[in-house]
Amino acid sequence: MKLSTNVVTPAVLSLLASFATGSAALSATRRATTCNGHPELCDRSFGNVTFVGTHDSYAVGTNNLAVNQDYNITQQLNDGVRMLQSQAHLSNGVIHLCHTSCTLYDGGSLQDYLTEVKTWMDANPNDVVSLLIVNSDNVAPTEYDSVFKTVGLDTLAYAPESASLAASAWPTLGSLIDSGKRLVVFLTTKADFNSVPYLIDEFTNIWETAFDVTDTTFDCNVNRTNGDSGTQMYLINHFLDKLVVGLPAPDPDHADTTNAVSGVGSLGQQVQTCAAQYGRNPNFMLVDFYEYGNGSVFQVAAAANGVSYSPATPIAQPKTGSSSSTSGSSGNSSSSGVTTAPANGAVDFKLVPTHFAALFAIAGGVLAGALSVF
Ligand SMILES: *[C@@H]1O[C@H](CO)[C@@H](O)[C@H](O)[C@H]1NC(C)=O
Ligand SMILES: *[C@@H]1O[C@H](CO)[C@@H](O)[C@H](O)[C@H]1NC(C)=O
Ligand SMILES: *[C@@H]1O[C@H](CO)[C@@H](O)[C@H](O)[C@H]1NC(C)=O
Ligand SMILES: *[C@@H]1O[C@H](CO)[C@@H](O)[C@H](O)[C@H]1NC(C)=O
Ligand SMILES: *[C@@H]1O[C@H](CO)[C@@H](O)[C@H](O)[C@H]1NC(C)=O
Repeated sequence: MKLSTNVVTPAVLSLLASFATGSAALSATRRATTCNGHPELCDRSFGNVTFVGTHDSYAVGTNNLAVNQDYNITQQLNDGVRMLQSQAHLSNGVIHLCHTSCTLYDGGSLQDYLTEVKTWMDANPNDVVSLLIVNSDNVAPTEYDSVFKTVGLDTLAYAPESASLAASAWPTLGSLIDSGKRLVVFLTTKADFNSVPYLIDEFTNIWETAFDVTDTTFDCNVNRTNGDSGTQMYLINHFLDKLVVGLPAPDPDHADTTNAVSGVGSLGQQVQTCAAQYGRNPNFMLVDFYEYGNGSVFQVAAAANGVSYSPATPIAQPKTGSSSSTSGSSGNSSSSGVTTAPANGAVDFKLVPTHFAALFAIAGGVLAGALSVF
């Protein structure tokens, strides 16, 4: 066919032009077609996605007043957790993940923890994962950097163009995955964009609701920020504490209702409250004992993201000896001294000497002002 100038219309020209740029883009980059389990999320800004996070993700165990989770990092990630929160402390000069203090609960070294994260991420190349590290001892970012380098996670970590980004300015999940920078790391204090740009300052990028609450109101008020909460991403602390000898401790006995899709004190209800108050859903939802509710926390996230809830494999079942109705058989007693009483739903703590020691350690921590990082 012979093309004369009068048949090559502007429409044909623009079609040819878009075809050319389209094919160039296709050949230049890898294109993730599924992002964090859903094709719809690939084109969504990281700042416009709701992620389930585990509060004190490393504090794993059963029948221990200092643990917040039943399952390890690998299981948490397999089940759909995409933000891992942790509390870092120095233990003999090494960064460990401890609860309030390393004498009370030592969850091992940051290096071992990050190694588990890396193994999972290597096996799951189409997922974006975030870490939120509470820098309890104000350790320099360069010290974290050397641990990330040892593990080989520094090369997977995303460094933003500037120290803080509005929620709308974050790249899409697809572009994070395509660029191979699909680990997003937030540090509560001492982040320094000039020395280690991938250790992102939390509070200039994220604001948080109150934490360690002991009533089920779960309001959505801004509790901590160091920026413009109107444009930042935000995190809801949706875990309920109970007072044990006047001190806050994780409360697995109410985790089914706390993690639920709906009802008083539920995660679903807090998301609705916050969405009504701010016109947008929370970005991160930190929970304890995430598997209580049989996936309800992931169902809440799917609804917030407008995607279907479709777990690839069944969610792990609760392990903690507890009086909650769906947790199955309740442990009768344990070596750590906590006994549950399923008959009336109340928990009967038999405080053995190790528990008194633990409580005194908590009390010491509180006196030292460590409550703010519990
Ligand atoms: C994590 O826990 C699962 C059981 O939920 C277990 O099979 C696996 O070996 C554990 N992985 C590590 C690295 O400890
Ligand atoms: C943050 O929450 C804590 C716990 O509920 C409360 O004591 C504190 O007053 C709150 N701070 C702000 C600034 O809202
Ligand atoms: C994402 O954007 C949609 C549309 O504006 C909004 O409804 C939703 O709440 C946003 N989600 C987050 C986490 O910002
Ligand atoms: C958990 O939910 C799945 C559906 O996601 C269901 O098939 C399973 O029976 C539930 N398990 C329990 C113990 O409720
Ligand atoms: C609890 O104790 C009773 C009586 O000793 C025993 O029959 C039952 O198997 C125990 N349950 C668990 C979960 O250990």
